[in-house]
Amino acid sequence: MSRVFQPSAHVVGKSRLPSFDKYNEMYKKSLDNPEEFWSEIAKEFYWQTPHQPGKFVSYNFDVTKGDIFVKWMEGAVTNICVNLLDRNIEKGHGDKIAYYWEGNHPDDYSRITYRKLKDLVCQFANGLRSRGVGKGDRVSIYMPMILETVVCMLACARIGAIHSVVFAGFSSDSLAERMSDCKAKVLVTSDGAWRGEKLLILKKTCDEALEKAKTKHDHTVESCIVVSHLAKASPCGKLGDIKSLYDWNADIDVWWHELIEDQSIDCKPEWMDAEDPLFMLYTSGSTGKPKGVLHTTAGYLLYAATTFRYVFDYQENDIYWCTADVGWITGHTYVVYAPLANCATSVMFEGSPFYPDNDRYWDVVQKYKVTQMYTAPTAIRSLMKFGVENVTKHDLKSLRVLGSVGEPINPEAWHWYYNLVGSGRCSIVDTFWQTETGGHVLTSLPGATPMKPGAAGFPFFGVAPTILDDNGKVIEGPGEGYLVFSRPWPSIMRTLFGNHERYQSVYFSKFPGYYCTGDGARRDEDGFLWVTGRIDDMLNVSGHLMSTAEVESVLTEDSRVSEAAVVSRPHPQKGEALHCFVILNAGVQPDPSIIDALKKHVRARIGAFAAPDAIQFAPGLPKTRSGKIMRRILRKIAVGDTDIGDTSTLADPSVIDQLFKSKP
Ligand code: PRX
Repeated sequence: MSRVFQPSAHVVGKSRLPSFDKYNEMYKKSLDNPEEFWSEIAKEFYWQTPHQPGKFVSYNFDVTKGDIFVKWMEGAVTNICVNLLDRNIEKGHGDKIAYYWEGNHPDDYSRITYRKLKDLVCQFANGLRSRGVGKGDRVSIYMPMILETVVCMLACARIGAIHSVVFAGFSSDSLAERMSDCKAKVLVTSDGAWRGEKLLILKKTCDEALEKAKTKHDHTVESCIVVSHLAKASPCGKLGDIKSLYDWNADIDVWWHELIEDQSIDCKPEWMDAEDPLFMLYTSGSTGKPKGVLHTTAGYLLYAATTFRYVFDYQENDIYWCTADVGWITGHTYVVYAPLANCATSVMFEGSPFYPDNDRYWDVVQKYKVTQMYTAPTAIRSLMKFGVENVTKHDLKSLRVLGSVGEPINPEAWHWYYNLVGSGRCSIVDTFWQTETGGHVLTSLPGATPMKPGAAGFPFFGVAPTILDDNGKVIEGPGEGYLVFSRPWPSIMRTLFGNHERYQSVYFSKFPGYYCTGDGARRDEDGFLWVTGRIDDMLNVSGHLMSTAEVESVLTEDSRVSEAAVVSRPHPQKGEALHCFVILNAGVQPDPSIIDALKKHVRARIGAFAAPDAIQFAPGLPKTRSGKIMRRILRKIAVGDTDIGDTSTLADPSVIDQLFKSKP
């Protein structure tokens, strides 16, 4: 049984939710009367038109009864950008710092107030309108962690355009596919950015992607807006002549600074219905093609704001820092929307934890006196190896809440985070959620809930988790099975962009009546929920979700490969790493150069984070008689575990021996 950690006096003394009883009371209220619970919170925000009485939430989660839908606050009209900026300024917080920006190079830093942020957002929103962007249009964003990225997202929200941020580590193929799928009208990028000592020429990747969108997917993006970032950034390595690094296509390219030059700092917002789309964000799908997860306006605002307030226990003078890139959902909700909805001051960090030294994170915490830090287990694990001194030489006393996200945090990393970074006085919030959930759904709450290292904890307000067995039977009390949710909370995704059928079949068809997360979970004797990992064919490498199918299809693009099967194996820093089995075509000789070429190809087609750790030539794959690959067995082979269990359903069990022998 794992040890239970109670919140410390340091945390409880300040907490807005100072006991487990208080949490239980609020949780019960949120389920018993969602309308009363959420409409109380909604009162803090600005609504051009209030929602229709009695229509706070309506939904159908049961595919056997008709189409799946979720609606919150029907009839309400608002604008999320107005709520994040204008509302806070009107309340007298115009001079409050919205972000401290810390560049890749420690000499590069700046700050921006709520008022200045609004001015820039309005100017850029007007700039977008001047390029023909309006309500419902899609804007792809391929940007580094700079303030213009936030400005761009909020400008889209202000004019009702749907932003689709693509993580700037994705390849030009991935960007092209995502821009074409959503038929983006505009792409926003920067000339480049430094990541540690590495120079990323984002504009070049964008040029390739724009070309591929045209030739491969028959989609033409009308404008490419480019932030001139490199000229302002201190060089962190070899730079040379910036202009020679990429091309300029005067037909569509425009500099950000030129676009906003003459634009007014006033911009009339587009009034949006509660269920109008706010943004879409692609996430990997188990059949390979990425899914455009769509989030809408009112519910997302309510839930993002509320989770932030309670999960991080954000209080007026706190300085909050989420290390996630804006290219992922964590960056959307917890770098941009949720902190601003709470009028918070955040740190936004462009760089790497290892540059210029391995103590950069702790340096940033000390520099800004960060009170809440939110990062990923993979980052924690990669910092653990640099020793205690690396952390203890910094003053980290300001910290109160330490967040974790992206994968289950292993107890060793939890203890290190808790004891060394948090000096045993901070609460750890292990937040389980997904691109699809929009905000935290399972978590501990500082001051309120006890913690167990490795457990996600308890459901957030309004969230009703259920554990089902293989037959869809509810497991009451302690037990393990599929993690599903029986009702919607305000920020659950509404559809997959342009593909409602796929939405219904991926998330709602396995267990009618439930949203299926794709993760397994266990409830222990004390009621703690533990997320046990994916139960579908998805892999989680350094907190980045990808599908086996996605990597397999890229591997088989090589004409020498006839078949591929990808599984994950444990990795000390990344959590999971890719182990790929490839069968070569008849007559092709296995050769190390093929392995190199395949690794490079996966990097180029998907992105560097998807690079396989191992590629193994396989004479065959363990398949059932019906032809299904038994990945369970491949996972054992990948780690050299010969205890492979029952193989009676295999068409040809002899393949297993051969695979063990050919393991690199
Ligand atoms: O498997 C779960 C894992 O990450 C998946 C969601 O990935 P993505 O949509 O990219 O969003 C990541 C950031 C919210 C989940 O299905 N996951 C995320 N957080 C946790 C987690 N697994 C265990 N514990 C967590 N705290």
